[in-house]
Amino acid sequence: MTILVTGGAGFIGANFVLDWLAQHDEPIVNLDKLTYAGNLDSLKSLKDDARHIFVQGDIGDKALVSQLLAQYQPRAIVNFAAESHVDRSIKSPTNFIDTNIIGTFNLLEAVRAYWLSLDQPLQTSFRFLHVSTDEVYGSLLPQDPAFAETNQYQPNSPYSASKAASDHLVRAWHHTYGLPVLTTNCSNNYGPYHFPEKLIPLVILNALAGKPLPIYGDGQQIRDWLYVKDHCAAIRCVLANGRVGETYNVGGWNEKANLEVVKTICALLDELQPKTLGSYTEQISFVQDRAGHDRRYAIDARKLEQELGWKPEETFETGIRKTVLWYLNNQDWVKNVTTGEYRQWLNLQYGA
Ligand code: NAD
Ligand code: DAU
Repeated sequence: MTILVTGGAGFIGANFVLDWLAQHDEPIVNLDKLTYAGNLDSLKSLKDDARHIFVQGDIGDKALVSQLLAQYQPRAIVNFAAESHVDRSIKSPTNFIDTNIIGTFNLLEAVRAYWLSLDQPLQTSFRFLHVSTDEVYGSLLPQDPAFAETNQYQPNSPYSASKAASDHLVRAWHHTYGLPVLTTNCSNNYGPYHFPEKLIPLVILNALAGKPLPIYGDGQQIRDWLYVKDHCAAIRCVLANGRVGETYNVGGWNEKANLEVVKTICALLDELQPKTLGSYTEQISFVQDRAGHDRRYAIDARKLEQELGWKPEETFETGIRKTVLWYLNNQDWVKNVTTGEYRQWLNLQYGA
């Protein structure tokens, strides 16, 4: 048996591939376009591992996807591939429409044709798991309950609107064509191999480089943080036991304001890599807010916990310490991702 993952050279995808092969002998075909966010360095421990078959390509390339499906006959697909950064979606949304909406549509069409070609038992056991986000539900007020699977979709950014559209396509391909799909909507991930355009790795690297730590607006926006390996475990759990056609919210019950997250990172760095003089908190710098910035996300993960028995292993305190240590101990990986394209993005987003 084989599974196919898309976007397996990105942050969550790479963690998923590494964890999967640490726990199973079932091979993985990994289809990834290698955009700026895809990084084979994250998978270099699998260089000589025959269980990992890497293919560079686009989920929107129906001919390529159809050929891979015919060749490897996967029993399941996990779709991580997406444009994922909200700030980039604000500056230039086109890639988000192309990959997250049109790419997902083409992928679904190739998968539907393949699925229909399978024998009945394989058709019945086949799964298409679509990895999505809590951002499709919009923004919460301070007193609102956390997002449940039944919440209305109210996406507010080009990124979340494109993810919402992809979720709707996946749902429709189940409802109309019977494709056996599962959807997961997860909160903010953090951990190893996180590209340093996102808040947590950006702050760790800027702090160590003596640069400003940019806080958008008043820094009181709330995110619900989940250690990436807990997300990967949740995906394995839904893939194995989730009910076809259902969506499962994934989150760690770790709501934190951005300023608190940044101060926690500074305190850990003060302990683990102290500066000669002063604290990293002195580098905190309030900058212009993100356009349309969602104020609060929070995930109610009770369905996944009660129905499938999943629970996160890390608290925010244990997970963030592991993450800071990982960045301190993996400076080669950091050096290789902070290349020309990355520096261009920093200039565009934060100014020289
Ligand atoms: P990422 O940006 O780090 O990685 C995305 C990967 O997809 C990259 O390797 C990239 O090369 C690849 N890719 C992009 N376009 C492609 C295309 N057209 N065809 C094939 N490959 C393509 O993203 P991530 O943070 O790892 O997120 C993975 C998935 O999880 C996304 O669907 C995202 O929406 C979702 N998600 C992310 C988070 C989070 O906090 N990072 C939380 C919830 C859900
Ligand atoms: O909620 C899940 C989502 O989490 C995923 O679907 C997205 O793919 C993922 O990128 C993430 O989106 P966010 O926009 O929440 O993550 P980001 O790390 O970009 O920002 C986290 C918070 O920190 C957000 O409120 C914006 C703020 N921020 C971010 C950056 C990059 C800052 O204050 N300063 C910054 O420089």
